[in-house]
Amino acid sequence: MKTLDKLTVPVIQGGMGVGISLGGLAGAVAREGGMGVISTANIGFREPDFWQNAEEAGRRALRKEIEKAREIAGGNGLIAINAMVATTNFADMVKLACECGIDAIISGAGLPLELPELTAGSDVLIAPIVSSGRAAKTLKRMWGKRHDHEPDFFVVEGSQAGGHLGFAQEDVENGSALPLMDIVADVVQEADKIPVFAAGSIFDGADIRKALAAGAKGVQIATRFIACEECDASQGFKDVILGASDEDVMILKSPVGMPGRGLRTPLMKKVAAGQRFAPETCIGCIHTCNPAETPYCINRALIEGYNGNYEEGLFFCGSNVGRINKMTTVKALMEELSSEWSK
Ligand SMILES: Cc1cc2nc3c(=O)[nH]c(=O)nc-3n(C[C@H](O)[C@H](O)[C@H](O)COP(=O)(O)O)c2cc1C
Repeated sequence: MKTLDKLTVPVIQGGMGVGISLGGLAGAVAREGGMGVISTANIGFREPDFWQNAEEAGRRALRKEIEKAREIAGGNGLIAINAMVATTNFADMVKLACECGIDAIISGAGLPLELPELTAGSDVLIAPIVSSGRAAKTLKRMWGKRHDHEPDFFVVEGSQAGGHLGFAQEDVENGSALPLMDIVADVVQEADKIPVFAAGSIFDGADIRKALAAGAKGVQIATRFIACEECDASQGFKDVILGASDEDVMILKSPVGMPGRGLRTPLMKKVAAGQRFAPETCIGCIHTCNPAETPYCINRALIEGYNGNYEEGLFFCGSNVGRINKMTTVKALMEELSSEWSK
């Protein structure tokens, strides 16, 4: 029976697509006693047949990355996938990860109402990402009614997180979204005894202590892990993140239909100014994306980001990106967080 007991440090490394958190980073975090998370977002992008056969490429890559993470982790910590409801291969990735014996599935970018059905018969831990107490309540009620299943834990993502945000664009832009710790307290109340992890701009041990004081069991951290040697992104991606300041961060409109936080790159500036970049090839990866109308292909932009192409790439990041200015290792970062948090 899988449990959270193997987490010796209360840190989940947030899933980062495309290709930013794969088996290398996830394995390194698990080895240090945390939960390492492989992003399934277009995970097959480095396979030679990706643009012709994305589904099969994705399956092959997911198997490889889980195996790699396991080897690196050496039996420590937990290994999870992050699969987004908005992606068209969501069910496929979830089922395959269960077959591979993954420890946990974390799922957001939409409410994963059918997740328990997809994981039925496996002892995998399943966790929705929510951004309000109301969403946690709805999810719990629906899973109870439809599947007689409770979440094994919740990830609460606040408005300062990187990537897609579960808030209205204007609430993020004008700062009227509830502060993370208030949402954590609301979700803790709805969750009853279900463990809650706080995410979005968690930077150091003091932030972890704040989350624990609000009732969380731990935290999910993403952006800080980008500046680690073990992070699966190219050094070009990492250098762009290392060089970014607070002024470079923007709230962008994503073809996923949610606002997102990332860097104001030349591509994002042009898109914000109304320019359109029609996709060259569409693999149909996002349910809500219409290739005939989308202002840009998010898959292509994220892959360019992964490669460190500042001009044409999309670089998701949390609001604390400006505080990250040197490379480190997962071991050093986990030790730093643990020592600060347990002081
Ligand atoms: C580069 C990047 C890619 C991300 N990709 C995903 C993703 O594929 N799925 C997802 O649920 N969240 C994604 N996120 C959100 C993170 O998992 C995490 O919850 C959030 O960034 C936490 O805030 P922090 O980065 O300030 O620590 C991404 C974040 C970043 C920075």
